Amino acid sequence: MQDNEKDIKNFKFDKAAIELLNTLEKENPRVKNFLIRKYKELPVSPEIEEEAYNYFLANSVIITAMTTYTGSSVFTEFLYNGIPSPSPIDRYILQCKAGKAVKSRLLATEKKLSKIITEYRNKGNVLIGNMGSGPGRDVINVLSAKYRNASNIQSIHIDKDINALKRGKIMTKVQKIDHLVKFIQENFLNYNPSQKFDILVLIGILCPLDAETSITILKTIKIFIKGGGCLIASNVTKQMEKEDPFAYFIMKWMADWKLVFKDEEELKLIYEKAGYKWKEGFRDSYGFHLIGVGTPIS
Ligand SMILES: C[S@@+](CC[C@H](N)C(=O)[O-])C[C@H]1O[C@@H](n2cnc3c(N)ncnc32)[C@H](O)[C@@H]1O
Repeated sequence: MQDNEKDIKNFKFDKAAIELLNTLEKENPRVKNFLIRKYKELPVSPEIEEEAYNYFLANSVIITAMTTYTGSSVFTEFLYNGIPSPSPIDRYILQCKAGKAVKSRLLATEKKLSKIITEYRNKGNVLIGNMGSGPGRDVINVLSAKYRNASNIQSIHIDKDINALKRGKIMTKVQKIDHLVKFIQENFLNYNPSQKFDILVLIGILCPLDAETSITILKTIKIFIKGGGCLIASNVTKQMEKEDPFAYFIMKWMADWKLVFKDEEELKLIYEKAGYKWKEGFRDSYGFHLIGVGTPIS
């Protein structure tokens, strides 16, 4: 058996990773060998590490987005939209389980959000807050699919990244729902709303944070939610770490993007310690993201 095949077999890489490693074997075996040694936690020289780092940046728009601003919605938007003619590294990121799970989280969130909006609409006007919204594609998709002619729904998208908000505004114009969505550039922790929200969406924010910081954030935003309103917040689960360690290794190596994986018990406890009643948790189809739904206890 060739060394390349042995390496791949010994590490039980998934299909997407095997495709990437086979392409690297042909295009730049030094980078491929480095990647396997680094993943195995074997010594590597700084020269080859620098070469490999540059190779990944030069050959992947997704990696470049991820490393330029860790936690940026440019990265998640690539995962939602895909890329025409992706490079082998970008194809890996789009095809690995962890990458596909992010898109699946979007679809699961939209489905649940649509149901929750209908419940609240039966009671009257609905005000949605989308914190750390990026462009706010989740809410925009639901509003444009079901509520474009509704007069009693509004959504406010709050993000510190002005470019994400500009992109969201364009999306609402394309979908002809710009009358339903407002965009505010702000650190959501300092937000001072004139009205409280019925539904508050917090997707892709808690994942890198420890339990204590997550509790502080949920406590801070609790005052923005009406009594009887709800919080929909996501976190990455331990299943991702277990089932796609190679994708997580790439995130840590390239972007120093470390996650705090939390299972249902842990996210539920965070909600409860922050003063919410846990209603339910749901997952994306890979089980890599848990999305909690809870109501503030007054
Ligand atoms: C990973 S993206 C997720 C975007 C979107 N929620 C989604 O699910 O596609 C995280 C976003 O949260 C924003 N963000 C993080 N912390 C924030 C804060 N304290 N105030 C405002 N925006 C924040 C970032 O700028 C980024 O746009």
